[in-house]
Amino acid sequence: MKEISTTFTLTTFEINEIEKQKKYYENSRSVSIEALKIVQKKRGWVCDQAIIEIANILNLNPSEVESVATFYSQIYRQPVGRNVIRYCDSVVCYLTGYEKIKKFLEDYLFIKIGNTTVDGRFTLLPVCCLGNCDKAPTIMINEDLYSHLNPDLIPNLLELYK
Ligand code: FES
Repeated sequence: MKEISTTFTLTTFEINEIEKQKKYYENSRSVSIEALKIVQKKRGWVCDQAIIEIANILNLNPSEVESVATFYSQIYRQPVGRNVIRYCDSVVCYLTGYEKIKKFLEDYLFIKIGNTTVDGRFTLLPVCCLGNCDKAPTIMINEDLYSHLNPDLIPNLLELYK
């Protein structure tokens, strides 16, 4: 579900924040990740027109900004719920049972991977290694990392996120 908008425009605040970042980086591609975070912070995700406008500010081709956005799993290119659950499906989490975590989350939330609950509370996404392999299986909810997870722990955990 992509935003189709001909009226989208970055705010003056967003533009100024992006301009400020130019001072801290030597090249525009490096600024683009900060620009994407600035846009996502308020809006929750980054639409196609935002990619184009960021590219204009940074004198980049939109495809360059798009490739940065695609590379970083924490940049969302579609609307997401108020809370984003990202479960690790890389090798150590696979060996320690991420599939049980994923199945439980899908059944408990009545959604499939990539979807958002009808109340907009949770989005469920896979992610590559979260760098927490020695404490697998691992999930992240928003910016919070959870280790040694098992399905029994999930209901109480989700209650922390409204
Ligand atoms: S493999 Fe899951 S955190 Fe590294």
